[in-house]
Amino acid sequence: MHFFRYKNGELHAEDVPVRELAETYGTPLFVYSHATLLRHFMAYKKAFSDFPHIICFAMKANSNSAIVRLFAKNGGGADVVSGGEIYRALRGGMPSNRIVYAGVGKTEKEIRFALKEKILMFNVESEEELVEIDRIAGLMELKAPVALRVNPDVDPRTHPYISTGLEKHKFGIPIEEAFEYYKLAAKLHNIKVVGIHKHIGSQITQVSPFVDALKKVMALVDKLSRCGVKIKYLDIGGGLGITYKDEEPPMPHDLARGLAPILKNRGLTIITEPGRSITGNAGILVTKVLYLKNTKNKRFLIVDAGMNDLVRPSFYDAYHHILPVIKSMRKTIIADVVGPICESGDFMAKDREVKAVKPGEFLSVMSAGAYGFSMSSNYNSRPRAAEILVKGKEHSLIRKRETYNDLLRGEVIPRFL
Ligand code: LLP
Repeated sequence: MHFFRYKNGELHAEDVPVRELAETYGTPLFVYSHATLLRHFMAYKKAFSDFPHIICFAMKANSNSAIVRLFAKNGGGADVVSGGEIYRALRGGMPSNRIVYAGVGKTEKEIRFALKEKILMFNVESEEELVEIDRIAGLMELKAPVALRVNPDVDPRTHPYISTGLEKHKFGIPIEEAFEYYKLAAKLHNIKVVGIHKHIGSQITQVSPFVDALKKVMALVDKLSRCGVKIKYLDIGGGLGITYKDEEPPMPHDLARGLAPILKNRGLTIITEPGRSITGNAGILVTKVLYLKNTKNKRFLIVDAGMNDLVRPSFYDAYHHILPVIKSMRKTIIADVVGPICESGDFMAKDREVKAVKPGEFLSVMSAGAYGFSMSSNYNSRPRAAEILVKGKEHSLIRKRETYNDLLRGEVIPRFL
């Protein structure tokens, strides 16, 4: 559930009319709802309250430091995949001992940074990485806390681009080989085995793939325990889906209920890494209609948000609801809602039924709070959008709209030119 609703025919973000925000801050504009973010985050905390747990928000979904701070303040942690995300997490006030770090390509610089900051654990994705972390930790005279990310070879039944837990994917260590890797890890002097990690994909709309994957992981945990390798942290990854259109994904409590029988009485601290299910429906992208263009066979609604702002429709053919900011009694039309970018793939929606609109009016692209701004770019030299956080009647800029100057930041013209 989220707090973007119509009141008196006007879309509101909590108690603030979205039109007012668009007029104040300009468009395209990402608007997030504090109450929705907190509600979704607390739903996880409550769902896993029978276990010692840390909800490590997957920062790749939305890495704004104000949003990270909200979760940090409420006892959450962060799941990061780069040195940049560690930096952002720390700047957002996240205690380093609640940061878990995954990713197949950690560099020496990133590993050093994570070790220096004393993160909770590295989720290690290969033998080579394990050996590299051991080497660097040795140089720094530290012990690196490590979990192995195992790949359980379970089909999450989601979009192929966001499925990660099959054998053919680059992620994790094949589960049948993981035991050997744990034995190796236990022997390395500068490694401390603390956990196990798995993540099978994103936008998963059933509990069963999570259960299947966890059963496989638990069999390994038991085998390890029999051999004296004690696991403290069990990181079950993220991946719960959200409703973009008509999906009916399980809620965090459904997930916890499905997993509880496998998890109970084991003395494990459970880590979850939700991203989309926390921020996805807590954010919208507000855009202004620029032109209506009709060709012989098609109608185009040209808006000021493009694939550089929200790439999901172009990239995954993803569906996002598009709602008028002011409800109207006008007739319904079928149109492609497209952006200003010079690519045919630049669209927010294709052949979509929408209420007729006029230039200058605002539309809201829904479910844009996850993998929206965080995947945005400066393509076509478009300054990235501003981000706003609304809490009740209050609203605050949490990221300024970029300027033309920002576009050139870091560019250097060589002397020979
Ligand atoms: N943990 C790990 C190790 C991950 O790789 C991911 C997402 C998550 C947690 C969070 O998953 P979530 O709860 O958000 O499903 N850009 C795509 C999604 C890519 C997901 C990548 N990994 C999209 O826009 O649909």
